[in-house]
Amino acid sequence: MSVVAFLTRAKDVLGGSGEPVGSCDEETPLLDEGKSCDFGGGGSGEDGAGHLLDVKKLRVCFRVRGKEVRAVEDVSFSLGTGKILALVGESGSGKSVSALALAGLLSENAVVSGEVYYRGRDVLGMSGRALCHLRGREIAYIFQEPCASLNPVLTVGFQIAESVRRHFPHVRDVKARVASALGEVGLGVVWERVVDAYPHELSGGMLQRAMIAMALVCEPQLLVADEPTTALDVTVQKRILELIMKLRERRRMAVLLITHNFGIAAACADEIAVMRNGRVVEKGTAREVLFAPRDAYTRLLVACVPRLKNRPVAQ
Ligand SMILES: Nc1ncnc2c1ncn2[C@@H]1O[C@H](COP(=O)(O)OP(=O)(O)O)[C@@H](O)[C@H]1O
Ligand SMILES: [Mg+2]
Repeated sequence: MSVVAFLTRAKDVLGGSGEPVGSCDEETPLLDEGKSCDFGGGGSGEDGAGHLLDVKKLRVCFRVRGKEVRAVEDVSFSLGTGKILALVGESGSGKSVSALALAGLLSENAVVSGEVYYRGRDVLGMSGRALCHLRGREIAYIFQEPCASLNPVLTVGFQIAESVRRHFPHVRDVKARVASALGEVGLGVVWERVVDAYPHELSGGMLQRAMIAMALVCEPQLLVADEPTTALDVTVQKRILELIMKLRERRRMAVLLITHNFGIAAACADEIAVMRNGRVVEKGTAREVLFAPRDAYTRLLVACVPRLKNRPVAQ
């Protein structure tokens, strides 16, 4: 298969040309290209070695009923500013555990070793206070199920504002900042409704956008998106992925995109790391991994990307 054919196929997995699709709440523009949402701050984001994030020989075990069970072993990868690295692999391969370990978010029964450097700073050796600053302010997470990540008894606006208050106590006009973040994720027209809504009152696509707004409101340099679209229908999925790609361009934000869907990785990522049984079995640029996979498991995953050769031709 040619390079163009593969990429066309991968784009098709995301739904094609980028025309507006979905219900009315999904039709607001993704980003207003004329406006930026610059809250100040930021920085070059890269350490001396040129990487925003360096993970070396990460190992995670869980203590379960007196025994240690290995979940992640010898995982190493790097991520540069403004780049998208896709962590791909089947369910249970250790993608989420690896991602959560980056900011000390694993449960108390986890035993983590190896090295994680964010802008050259040793994350695994950080104090709880330093980790709290890192999370949200520098590294933000979005998860597969927004409903599971949001508190059902608090309004969406309150929860986004809480992030701002926590990390930027000096900011006076928190509401303006929340509105601006919602505008950036394409909810500008309906921001007042979103702010006052409880999570169950919004559609899946709107909720996922609100989650992204919550992640972005503190201007993180690294966004960890753990299966951010798996729970959404394909049209909304496409728009959310496009939004993430546009935001990384606009903000030069790095994205660790976790997915079990190789098609999504093919369409979005600069680099791909393939995980299996807690280990990275292959990594490289998206082009290398997609067109010259060295590992048999990767070849299997690449072969699973749906073929759209027999698409119906428009009449
Ligand atoms: N808190 C935990 N305690 C024990 N085992 C866990 C815990 N969290 C995850 N695991 C195990 O770690 C392995 C990797 O899980 P995970 O990273 O969530 O996989 P995925 O690639 O689907 O994201 C799985 O076998 C999972 O059961
Ligand atoms: Mg997972």
